[in-house]
Amino acid sequence: MNELQPLLLTVAALLATVLASRVIVRRQVRRLADWLRLSRTGEPPPPPPTRAGALMNPLIREAEALAKDLAKAQESAVQEARLRSQADALWTAERLRGHVHAKLAGRPLVVVANREPYRHAHSGSKIEVVMPASGLVTGLEPLLRACGGTWIAHGDGDADRETSDENGRLKVPPENPQYALRRVWLSDEEDKGFYSGFSNEGLWPLCHIAHTRPVFRPDDWARYREVNAKFAEAVFEEIEGQTEPCVLVQDYHFTLLPSLIKERRPDARVALFWHIPWPNPEAFAICPWQKELLHGLLGADLIGFHTQDHCNNFLDTVDRVLESRVDRARFAVKRAGHETLVKPFPISVAFPETPAREPAAAARAAREKVLRAAGREDEFIAVGVDRLDYTKGILERFRGVERMLDLYPEYQGRVVLFQIGAPSRMALAGYRDFGEAVAAEAARINARFKGPPPIVVLSRHHSHDELKPYYLAADACLVTSLHDGMNLVAKEFVAAREDERGVLILSRFAGAARALRDALIVNPYDADAVAEALRTALAMKPDAQSLRMVRLRREVRENNIYRWSANLITELAAVRLPAGV
Ligand code: G6P
Repeated sequence: MNELQPLLLTVAALLATVLASRVIVRRQVRRLADWLRLSRTGEPPPPPPTRAGALMNPLIREAEALAKDLAKAQESAVQEARLRSQADALWTAERLRGHVHAKLAGRPLVVVANREPYRHAHSGSKIEVVMPASGLVTGLEPLLRACGGTWIAHGDGDADRETSDENGRLKVPPENPQYALRRVWLSDEEDKGFYSGFSNEGLWPLCHIAHTRPVFRPDDWARYREVNAKFAEAVFEEIEGQTEPCVLVQDYHFTLLPSLIKERRPDARVALFWHIPWPNPEAFAICPWQKELLHGLLGADLIGFHTQDHCNNFLDTVDRVLESRVDRARFAVKRAGHETLVKPFPISVAFPETPAREPAAAARAAREKVLRAAGREDEFIAVGVDRLDYTKGILERFRGVERMLDLYPEYQGRVVLFQIGAPSRMALAGYRDFGEAVAAEAARINARFKGPPPIVVLSRHHSHDELKPYYLAADACLVTSLHDGMNLVAKEFVAAREDERGVLILSRFAGAARALRDALIVNPYDADAVAEALRTALAMKPDAQSLRMVRLRREVRENNIYRWSANLITELAAVRLPAGV
């Protein structure tokens, strides 16, 4: 026994040591695990376990290093999220200016659009300056105001020459010059063939499915080609001596311009934005010069449409008509070594950055103002704001109002539709006839109802300032286009309604219907549907109006014109030019 005692003591001591170490190690491991968990979950890491002992030291050192790396990774993730949320924040004129400055890195920006943003016209002994009614002008002007550059356009005002220098240049806006306007002069013959003929009797009805037959005349096509070449010369003059300029061509007036520019200036980055719908290939195929048009367009590095549907129609058309490789995964067309990207950029409007102080009072005042001006006392106001164009569904809108008054006679004598119609393209008989048809249809409907006439047509150009009270006063705004690329009236109405009231009735055939889901969406050909929507709008409780309007406003605020411009310029600036151009 005595001999065994030391051995037993040693074994006992060993066991006690092992047990004690196990307890200590287990406690240390638990602490280490807790500490690591805290570090991992983003809590500020507590100090690492102290009484760890030599056994744990290497592990603790590794864990410490790991925790530091983790903390660093967390910090940069937070930072990145912050930057991302800043990048997603609202686009403003100021932010766009900085963005475009960085993207263009000193390269000049040239915009080409047929319609000029400021037209000078004689009015008695004075010269007046007018901003024409055009969604294109509404959309593009904020970009030029924010970022500067040159806008090349047809100078068609009768006082345009005397208000420009000998090269057709002037600084605009007149009250606060921020960019250059370069006017191009066209003869009457050029204007007739290029603008009235090929652009507006041919391409306009071709692209709008509004059941007006397009007219294609060889002489108009010849003028169209000449005028595109003339504008190309103006572009070359404006970009002379500049390396890698960015040229933003607008709309169906200039399908040939991208190729003309690229052939002479392959170092230019060229985008074309198409402001109207692009039809399906079968509809487009009736144009005798469809190949030439597509060839001209595909000179661009980037082609923008308002909606993905229009992009798809365009790619289908190219696929059908030209030898080319259409890459549907990347939405690109490759042809003779040149690539054109085709993307949607839904255009928008500027959104008031500083809210009105008393929006409800402003809306009440606007209501009194428009009623007083018309000598009326209606309980309900509806508005329509359009160029007098057959694609806008104005006659269908009137029939919707008529039908509503028939179906719900209790509204007779209590509601007025103010139809603001800016005369448009008056050189064309079709447009003059349409203006007359609008007046005649309003008169027919008005004659059917006793009391104050339900439809008041205001056929003259209204400035943005003049339109605002109508938008603000309206219980309902009717946008009933038969087909429309986007329709900025819908977005202007929403942007104006700081009081969060009013209901938008919107055609499903307008590009705007894709995003403005809280409008009452209608088929304008269906008079009953328009009537029901109008009656729903007029009967809608303020809370329900507000719910819709708040969501509509969020959509337009977030996707405003500055975001549109930023996206377009970002894509254009990212175009990779071939080496050695
Ligand atoms: C549409 C076109 C624009 C055009 C506007 C007004 O919005 O997409 O290019 O400027 O109509 O038409 P107008 O013929 O007067 O320029």
